[in-house]
Formats: sequence, structure tokens, C-alpha cells
Amino acid sequence: MTKKIFGLDIVKHSKIKLQCIQRYLSAYSNIITYSKWYKVYYFIDGFAGTGYCKSKGAPNIVNGSATIALNIKPPFTKYFFIELDQEKAQELECLKTEYPNLSIKIFQGDCNVKINDVLQEIESNAPFIALLDPQAGDLYWDTIVKIAQKNKAELFINFPFGMAINRYMPLEDGKNVDAETELKLNKIFGSEAWKPIYGERKKGTISSAMARDKYLDIYLQGLKALGFKYYAVKNLKNSKKAHIYYLIFATRNRRGLEKMKDHLVEGEPDRNTLFFNQDISSAVYNDFSGCKNVSLDDVLEKMLAGKHLLKIQDFKNALIALEKDKKLSRINPRPRSRSFNESDRFNII
Ligand SMILES: C[S@@+](CC[C@H](N)C(=O)[O-])C[C@H]1O[C@@H](n2cnc3c(N)ncnc32)[C@H](O)[C@@H]1O
Repeated sequence: MTKKIFGLDIVKHSKIKLQCIQRYLSAYSNIITYSKWYKVYYFIDGFAGTGYCKSKGAPNIVNGSATIALNIKPPFTKYFFIELDQEKAQELECLKTEYPNLSIKIFQGDCNVKINDVLQEIESNAPFIALLDPQAGDLYWDTIVKIAQKNKAELFINFPFGMAINRYMPLEDGKNVDAETELKLNKIFGSEAWKPIYGERKKGTISSAMARDKYLDIYLQGLKALGFKYYAVKNLKNSKKAHIYYLIFATRNRRGLEKMKDHLVEGEPDRNTLFFNQDISSAVYNDFSGCKNVSLDDVLEKMLAGKHLLKIQDFKNALIALEKDKKLSRINPRPRSRSFNESDRFNII
């Protein structure tokens, strides 16, 4: 079969997304294999594309999420790819010949339906990552609920707010969400919780950035309610610095979050502000002031999950700054050590 590339032209933010996927899948596979705890682990790509993308303005073809996953070493036990478009699904079939030693199963159809078949093939205690990367409002909340029923699931979701969902909610006078779109939005958010935010935005009582943040919070609160207590968010922007979509990573496992934070924050220009460390120190101080016998673990447990771009080293630096300001005293000081590790205990004054 001649290979045609149906994938979208890839632009800078897509490259960042693919880089995050590559780094996380690689870390995940290594952690799982190294732990020797699990015999099998899986990868689901719910909106798989063709496995390849075309680089915008350049003739070269780059790996999409499916082939990125297939190149991860050590490989996953089995790969499940779902794709609605028939021609793209046929292209995915070619991957079975390109990667003859890997176990690949392709489902052509709607991810929100086919996910049932995929989940049936996954043992209830087997770890897996589900990548859900729609380009519009094609991912329904109910699909996330189904995935969450497996307790070793990790999620990597593209929440395409700026590039799609926002456009379903007109702000012009005289225009409203029609009945069909209303149903779609209910399916996307899993409830009508978006309505009051849309109402406020229409009245002009909140800014677009505030509304966006609130819509994101519906999603994050929903994930937490499903047991995904640890999450990280990256706000992907275009060349004009306008928001396009959120990458949301969610897990029930803090180690997973730690790894993901490291990868999501890399290369973030917003991190390099002069007051960065000072801000975290104040935040840690506000949350823990007066607390005795605290550990780095306590701080991470409470503060690492979130929409911020902070990683473990940032919290360690914040503790160093608090100690320097005499707002932190160690219970078990280690000679000549300024840093904080997992066994250190301290009081926040
Ligand atoms: C953003 S692209 C995915 C790109 C892919 N993750 C990659 O990195 O190469 C979204 C894909 O989802 C497909 N799609 C759209 N609606 C779908 C649905 N309901 N179920 C499954 N696939 C769908 C589109 O045909 C498109 O190929």
C-alpha cells in the first residue's frame, strides 16, 4: 500500500506535545520494567491519526504519537490504536508490518465507543497509559470515566479549549449555544457545569482568561473525583502567545506525577522569572507555617499537583531559601548539606 500522510501539518506546539509524550512514555516504560512488579503494561492511543505527521513548511515527515510509542524501549506489551477515519486506520494497519515484533491492535471507529472493546482486553490490575489527543470536541467525559474504572490507568489528555471547545460558545449578542452543541458540551464536560461560566462570560463579568481557567477547573475537579489526585497541566500557546490547548496529565501515583512534571516544565519560558523561587518559598511558608516534623514528602504531597509549572527541585530550592531566612529549622541536620532529601525532617517556624 502506498503511504499517504493524512496527519495534520505539525507546528511548534504539536512538536512540544509529541516531545512530552515521547519523554513520558520512555520514563514510564523504564520505571515499570525496572520495578519488575508488572508482567504486562499497555498503551492506548484513542485518537491515533496515522502514526506520522508532516512538518509544516518542511518536506520531512515526523513520527506521530503512535510511532513514537512503538519506538519506546523497552516496548509496551501491547498497543491499542483507535482512529475514526477509515483511511487513517488503514495506514495504521501498515505499522503492523513496520513493527513485526510488536503486538498492535487497531480499532476503526469512535474512541468513545471503541474504548469499551479496548478496556475489555486490559486486565483490571495492569498498568497502562491512555493518550487522548482529539483535535476538536470529540472526547467525551464518559470515556474518561470508563478508563478511570481501571485502577492502574494514567491519562494524557489534550483538552483543546482554545482551538475548538471555545468556539462552540459564541459571545456575540443575539447568538447562543444551539441545542445540539449544548448536548455536545454536556458530553465533553460530563455535566452542565460549563453553563454558569458561559453565562458569566457572556455578561462580561469575567475575562476570557478567567473563564478558561474555570472551564479547566471543571475538568481537573472531575479527574480528582475519579481518583486522579495527582495531575499536571501545560498550557500550550501559538507563536502569538495565545492559548491553544491544555495538555493534562493525570495519575493516581505521585511518582508518575514527579516524572511528568519534570518533562512538562522543560523549556517553559514562563519559569525564568526573577521572583520565581521567592514565590514558591512564600507559598510553602503560607501552607506550612507553624507545622512541626515536616518532610519534603509532605510538601510535595500537598503542593506538587496543580496547574503550576513547579517540579521537585523547585520545592527543594524553596526549602533551602526558607532555611536561609531562618523560617525553617532542621530536626536532623546533615553535616555540610544544604539540600533536602526524603529522610530530612524539619519545623517551619
Ligand atoms: C490531533 S489528531 C491525533 C494526532 C496523533 N495523536 C499524533 O500525534 O499523530 C486527532 C485524530 O483523531 C481522529 N478522530 C477524530 N474524532 C475521533 C473519534 N471520535 N474517535 C477516534 N478518532 C477520532 C482524527 O481523524 C485525527 O486523526
